[in-house]
Amino acid sequence: MTKVITYGTYDYLHYGHIRLLERAKALGDYLIVGVTADDFDKTRGKINVRQSLIERVEAVRATGLADEIIVEEFEGQKIDDIRKYGVDIFAIGSDWEGKFDYLSEYCKVVYLPRTEGVSSSEIRSEEQDLRILVVGEHAMADKFIAESAYVNGVSVTGCISTREACEATNGYKKLLDESDAVYVVSEPTLRSKIAKAAILSDKHVLIESPIATSVNDCRELHALAKERGVIVFEALKTAFSTAYHRLNLLVKGGKIGKVVSVDAVCTSLTESPWGSLLDWGATTLLPIFQLLGTDYREIGIHSLMAEDRKDYDVFTKLTFVYDGACASAKVGNGVKSEGELIISGTKGYIYVPAPWWKTDYFEVRFEHAEDNKRYFYQLEGEGIRYEILEFLNSVRRGTEDAYVTGEITEAICGVMERCYEKGERKLL
Ligand code: CTP
Repeated sequence: MTKVITYGTYDYLHYGHIRLLERAKALGDYLIVGVTADDFDKTRGKINVRQSLIERVEAVRATGLADEIIVEEFEGQKIDDIRKYGVDIFAIGSDWEGKFDYLSEYCKVVYLPRTEGVSSSEIRSEEQDLRILVVGEHAMADKFIAESAYVNGVSVTGCISTREACEATNGYKKLLDESDAVYVVSEPTLRSKIAKAAILSDKHVLIESPIATSVNDCRELHALAKERGVIVFEALKTAFSTAYHRLNLLVKGGKIGKVVSVDAVCTSLTESPWGSLLDWGATTLLPIFQLLGTDYREIGIHSLMAEDRKDYDVFTKLTFVYDGACASAKVGNGVKSEGELIISGTKGYIYVPAPWWKTDYFEVRFEHAEDNKRYFYQLEGEGIRYEILEFLNSVRRGTEDAYVTGEITEAICGVMERCYEKGERKLL
């Protein structure tokens, strides 16, 4: 029996793919099709793939041409697959001419002429871009604009100041008219007001975290968005980093036993327009609420304020008590500490070195060092480009954010409310 293998992304499966699969199959008796995993695509910079892995696998299956479908998850896997499955022929389209000659050491390599006039990229480019207007003057606005260039299917219509958005100037209205969505990175206390106005103009909203400084504002935004049929999406970049996401899944799967403590630290000495809790708080609260839930029994908020600015906390420590667990978060803008995340469990712990909020690496550690495991997942663009991609997918599918749930968004706003509106913060 002659076994043939071929690989591809198969996004929006088209006639060119089917012709390729037919010819590959005709080269032998048994065809194995490798479909690239979402993360593998991301690391190759192909962040424009629209369909999920499952959808793409199903589309390949529906052609009835593949005898076996496998997922391509890492670079170098092809050699492994060829050996493992006893492959005789590796076939691929002629757009890859010469690129896979190195595989001829293991099997025959065949380049099949590519079908002219059709490609996934072309099909994708027929879709309208999601046009995003950026509101705010924070450094994140520049990062966002730079990162959006890596995501196919979005374009930035402009960047406007918080003041102009709040005053709804003609310039702002014009840009808003030309946009489908707004990315809000304004001063935290003004974010929900700007987002609300955008939702009332039927625009989708991507909003930096915390999205509001009161639970009511947060609820109002979500209710309004639901009413108008638009998406409100929390821009908490760490949530979209592959390593962080995988770490979460491992912990939830019981890898370190029962979680007893989550301790997160984020600090910076770089000048920031607002205090440390507003700047970093949401990031440190993310793992706490994701892993221990939002139903804490007690909270303590202690801050050290700047000498010259009474509304600016250079350092804040948050402590949480849960039934059977506890957590702490330390944030600083003007105070420096080790920016690590430690999740302690009854069987072991997870250690994420600084800066954990944009990590590509973590370790699962146990009593006996020989049991320890290290995990590495490439991170491009601090997670921002994945966040933009998920926002785009969310808008296209009309579904809510699956990474930062509504409950977590609300709990983050709740902590801000306790601090800024209810005055529960104690000063150091
Ligand atoms: N292919 C082909 N003819 C086309 C398009 C793709 O023969 N018109 C082949 C590719 O050479 C590859 C396989 O189909 O062997 C899967 O290609 P894939 O990269 O998934 O599809 P593209 O349409 O090339 O995607 P993109 O536009 O994103 O590059």
